[in-house]
Formats: sequence, structure tokens, C-alpha cells
Amino acid sequence: MIVYRHAKLSDVEEIMMLINQYAEKGLMLPRTRNTLYEGIREFVVAVEEERIIGTGSLHIIWDDLAEIRALAVDPGKRDKGIGRKIVERLLKEAVGLHCPQVFALTYQVDFFKKFGFEIIDKEQMPHKVWKECINCIKFPNCDEIAMILKVG
Ligand SMILES: CC(C)(COP(=O)(O)OP(=O)(O)OC[C@H]1O[C@@H](n2cnc3c(N)ncnc32)[C@H](O)[C@@H]1OP(=O)(O)O)[C@@H](O)C(=O)NCCC(=O)NCCS
Repeated sequence: MIVYRHAKLSDVEEIMMLINQYAEKGLMLPRTRNTLYEGIREFVVAVEEERIIGTGSLHIIWDDLAEIRALAVDPGKRDKGIGRKIVERLLKEAVGLHCPQVFALTYQVDFFKKFGFEIIDKEQMPHKVWKECINCIKFPNCDEIAMILKVG
């Protein structure tokens, strides 16, 4: 059985390994323990037999915008609906917070389209969105696609 829940401090090592294996391939931004501990309350995890097999976070940007970040499913557990469940949970949280729009910066365009996300010109995103990007090795030549969904 797969349980979906908020992350705990003790999950950080496993979350970091999950994310950083994709980061090494250039698919995601790498995360440090520091950023994970600081942001742990934003994270949800999918747990199967006490092992974390999926994760994702909802980061609030401003009064009308949140970002889905750090979405990753264990390579051996992909295409089983786990990513979908995590995204649905994060979108529900956005609705609960009365946040009307959620965006993602991603290479997984077709995955996000399944939820109704639409591609948006990155220039239309508020400057605050790029705060974290300054630390990315790709900055300022980001090739990720910005996608946005109205949830409110
Ligand atoms: C992207 C990712 C999170 C998807 O998780 P997943 O558990 O494999 O996806 P799901 O099984 O929930 O898929 C949900 C739907 O999207 C489809 N889908 C999954 N990955 C897809 C992809 N890369 N492109 C297009 N469609 C995809 C599935 O076929 C499924 O479609 P259906 O509902 O019509 O059957 C996962 O593949 C992953 O961890 N990728 C590497 C890290 C990454 O790129 N993260 C995104 C950072 S923004």
C-alpha cells in the first residue's frame, strides 16, 4: 500500500537522494540538506513499505501564485499514478490556501498538460519566481518550460 503524507525531518535523506539522482542527469535542480530542512513543511511524500518512492512540494510565491517544485518519483515506480497523486495533493493544498494559480518549471510538459497546465511565456512570470534560479548552473539560460494552471 502506498501512503501519501506530509514529509517529516527524518525523510530528508531519502528525499534528497530521490531528487538528486534526477538532478545529476540535469532533469531537476539539486537540493541540499539545508534547503530541504528549511522547506520540509512544503513537501509531501509517497511511502511504500517505509521507503519514500515519490515526493513533491508546493512553494508559495506570492498572494496569487504557488509553484510545484521538486517533483520526483522513484525510477522503478514511474507510470503507476504516483506522480499524479502527488500533484493532485499539492493542487488541493493550493486550493485550501486560496491560491488561485499554480505553476511549474519543467521538461515534463505532457505530464503537466494532463492536469490542465498550459505553457506560459516565462517573461510573464513575476521576477520573484527567479530567486531560486540564480543558484542554478543553467542560469540565465534556462531551458525549462513554464506552465501554469488556474485552480481557484
Ligand atoms: C514526471 C514524473 C514525476 C511523473 O510521475 P509518474 O508517477 O511517473 O507519473 P504518473 O504515473 O502519475 O502519470 C500520470 C499520467 O501522466 C503520464 N505521464 C507520466 N510521465 C509522463 C511524461 N514524462 N510525459 C508525458 N506523460 C507522462 C502517464 O502516462 C499518466 O497518464 P494517464 O493518466 O493518461 O494514464 C516522473 O516521471 C519523474 O519523477 N520524472 C523525473 C523527474 C522529473 O522530471 N520531475 C519533474 C520536475 S518538474
